[in-house]
Amino acid sequence: MAAAVCIVLLSLLLGSCTRPPVREPVTLTLLEEWTAKTINEGREQELRQFTQETGIQVKLLPSPESAREKLALWQELLRSGTSSPDVYGIDVIWTRILDEYFIDLKPYFASDISHNFPVIAARYSVDGKLIAMPYHADIGILFYRTDLLREYGYSEPPRTWDELGLMAARIQAGERAKGNKAFWGFVWQGAAAEALTCNALEWQAAEGGGQIIEADKTISVKNPNAIRAWQRAARWVGSISPPSVVGYKEWDSQNVWVAGEAAFMRNWPTYYVDSQAVGSPIRNKFAIALPPGGKAGRFGTLGGAGLGVSRFSAHPREAVELVRYLSRRDVQANRSRVLSVPPSLPELYDVPEVLGPNPGFAMFRQAFRTGIVSRPSNVTGQKYPDVSEAYTRAVHSVLTGEKSAPEAAADLENELIRITGFKKGPPPGGSAHP
Ligand code: GLC
Repeated sequence: MAAAVCIVLLSLLLGSCTRPPVREPVTLTLLEEWTAKTINEGREQELRQFTQETGIQVKLLPSPESAREKLALWQELLRSGTSSPDVYGIDVIWTRILDEYFIDLKPYFASDISHNFPVIAARYSVDGKLIAMPYHADIGILFYRTDLLREYGYSEPPRTWDELGLMAARIQAGERAKGNKAFWGFVWQGAAAEALTCNALEWQAAEGGGQIIEADKTISVKNPNAIRAWQRAARWVGSISPPSVVGYKEWDSQNVWVAGEAAFMRNWPTYYVDSQAVGSPIRNKFAIALPPGGKAGRFGTLGGAGLGVSRFSAHPREAVELVRYLSRRDVQANRSRVLSVPPSLPELYDVPEVLGPNPGFAMFRQAFRTGIVSRPSNVTGQKYPDVSEAYTRAVHSVLTGEKSAPEAAADLENELIRITGFKKGPPPGGSAHP
């Protein structure tokens, strides 16, 4: 963390040493959430285009890898009141944590915002103020190996988590029998980090296990469906998933997957581009689907970030121009074509420029309407980081066998009552509270 802060402060310092005298073009600084190398190279290209169009220069700052480290850095910079960065990527779960530091974008984007998927647009508004403008969409998805599914006689990806378990075990056994001892059925994110909140929410929402804390402020996490979903995931560890999966973040799963050593991976669409890169061992051998489901449906966790303008920026007018450019229809379409990033504008899912290179993206049109589960960040506001950390700690203790699932759920419920002061109860339509 300290190293990350130093890198950013150093970049800012170097930036200011070379800052041009008056009347030279404005240079904005942008701090974003993406860490993938390929995507960042693509972003540099977009920013060069922006400079050509407007004369405004942009410096893209480096960012730490995990969501929680990023939030800590963002908070440190914003609390210091520094005039740079001008534009920040704001994770969909941070809107109510950071809102006081950002200008209201509504006057600039009042009509544009309505063109986005409503579920995405809604996450960036607080009390009528638009804190950030969406510029891409993100959702938890299942990547699967089409060649292996075919080879083992499966015509479609798993519809349920139980099916995934069976398919993964069979393919893993077959691949190992062929001599690939390092092969695993399923890789995902099991480290005690924000991504585990997203993974575990998908398992439990699919079974009717609720959203941890419901929109009406009910702490619903201690219920039999959630408990069973966690227990099933604990059985994956060391059987269809490597024992070290309990230390995996996004990149760790991606490394196993892109080496061709896993049949299934749960990750975000931003991991598509490296999987499909020229030279990737799995190029043209995989496809994507919603994560498997259960008795309540199939859900991917809503992720992503919008772009906000810091209220300390010395160049708010230019910063708004940058947000306008990065969220623009043609820029989003091009980003999809080149970097396989899903757009936040539903109308772009009809466009050959987007669907041609990414035929699998057709599913997102529906997924962002009916396949989303959201983390309880709106209802918990500033307390969300503590809530999410408590949840990942509980699920992680079940995955490592440190606690039984019923015990972890009971302890978590008490902790969430202490953190939020909310009441406990069953999830909507859910079974009786144990
Ligand atoms: C992705 C998502 C973001 C989430 C993070 C967790 O970047 O877009 O919403 O918080 O992963 O690691």
